[in-house]
Amino acid sequence: MSTLTAASPATAPAPVAGHKLHKPLDETTPLLRVADLAVSFDNGTGPRIQAVDGVRMTIYPRQTLAVVGESGCGKSVTAMSLMHLVPRPPGRWDRGEAFFQTDDGPRDLLKFSEPEIRRIRGNEIAMIFQEPMTSLNPVYTIGDQIIEAILLHQHVTPSEAEQIALQAMADVGIPEPSKRIRAYPHQFSGGMRQRVMIAMALACQPKLLLADEPTTALDVTIQAQILELLRGLQRTRQMGMMLITHDLGVVAENADVVCVMYAGRVVEYATIYELFANPLHPYTRGLFASIPKIGEVRNRLVTISDVIDNPQAFTSLPGASEGVRPWWPWHDPPADLRRRDVPAGDYYLQEVSPNHWVGVWRTEAVKDHESRPPDLSFRIADQTSMSLFPDRGAFS
Ligand SMILES: Nc1ncnc2c1ncn2[C@@H]1O[C@H](COP(=O)(O)OP(=O)(O)OP(=O)(O)O)[C@@H](O)[C@H]1O
Ligand SMILES: [Mg+2]
Repeated sequence: MSTLTAASPATAPAPVAGHKLHKPLDETTPLLRVADLAVSFDNGTGPRIQAVDGVRMTIYPRQTLAVVGESGCGKSVTAMSLMHLVPRPPGRWDRGEAFFQTDDGPRDLLKFSEPEIRRIRGNEIAMIFQEPMTSLNPVYTIGDQIIEAILLHQHVTPSEAEQIALQAMADVGIPEPSKRIRAYPHQFSGGMRQRVMIAMALACQPKLLLADEPTTALDVTIQAQILELLRGLQRTRQMGMMLITHDLGVVAENADVVCVMYAGRVVEYATIYELFANPLHPYTRGLFASIPKIGEVRNRLVTISDVIDNPQAFTSLPGASEGVRPWWPWHDPPADLRRRDVPAGDYYLQEVSPNHWVGVWRTEAVKDHESRPPDLSFRIADQTSMSLFPDRGAFS
């Protein structure tokens, strides 16, 4: 990559002496299992804002779960809740569980005390924030901040921590790390600060990375390098990743499983192959239809509303003839709604075909149904056939 003056990031970073790795993970056991997560915010005198309502998802070691959906649908609140980073108040956890495989076995993150979550944060779980500018302290050098994060969680000496920090800075393509380590955040561009955040998160060798729009502020060359670096870490360290992104190109290149959210709920959940080949919820279809395709001549772009404003789009789910209807908050509920007396009781995340979940109304047809929660251990790197995305064969 010619734009870089530093060495290109390694795809599989070499462990630095003294750098403690986590115990090997059982790849058949979920790293994270979120069930029925609901988070709301105080809205002064008005009703509470239900930012997240009944979210379910599962992430396995070495797997990337992409979380997609429009602005405000609850992606960041979901990730921040797991790390206890939603301010409470005004935020509140209404219900839910988030079981994480800690070094001491599965524990519900939402039940952690503050000292307990602080031990996990930046250590077993790291987060790359959507707004890196607000996450760096302006009065400390970049090096101080990365080294402090390493010393906090790893049994290494200060000089070993500096070596790890330099390696992490080189890994994310920061030129001349030995000079830049003494710089202050304001001396870095926005894209460079984003890379510092990524270096800081990765230096701690997390088992799970919550990456909230990690590459949005970066140009495409660096974006590709960072994502390749993350894939390398997944292979060598079994790291699981929640990848929050607006960019369906990034999803196609990186995700194993995709969780589509709308208005705080999961509306579709499937493997990357299945979702791209056979999107079932009209919102997901609208997302795909709105991407311009090379070589296709259109008078104007298809918008998401072109798809979701078409009533026919809501009558094609498996089971539609029996009355299975995609949940959509802008529609009046169907006449045969059998709302349960629980929060979000009008909605149900149904496995409409094997390994493919869609958010549907709780109608007569599914009144007594209880679906398996969304849980897919699928990893594209384990597949031998790459027919849908042949390029990805190069990364596995
Ligand atoms: N601190 C807060 N106080 C009040 N409401 C909040 C707060 N944080 C988030 N919300 C609300 O929660 C909802 C979900 O927000 P969230 O940040 O998770 O969206 P998002 O999917 O990450 O969007 P984007 O793609 O723009 O980052 C929004 O309606 C937002 O206004
Ligand atoms: Mg966000």
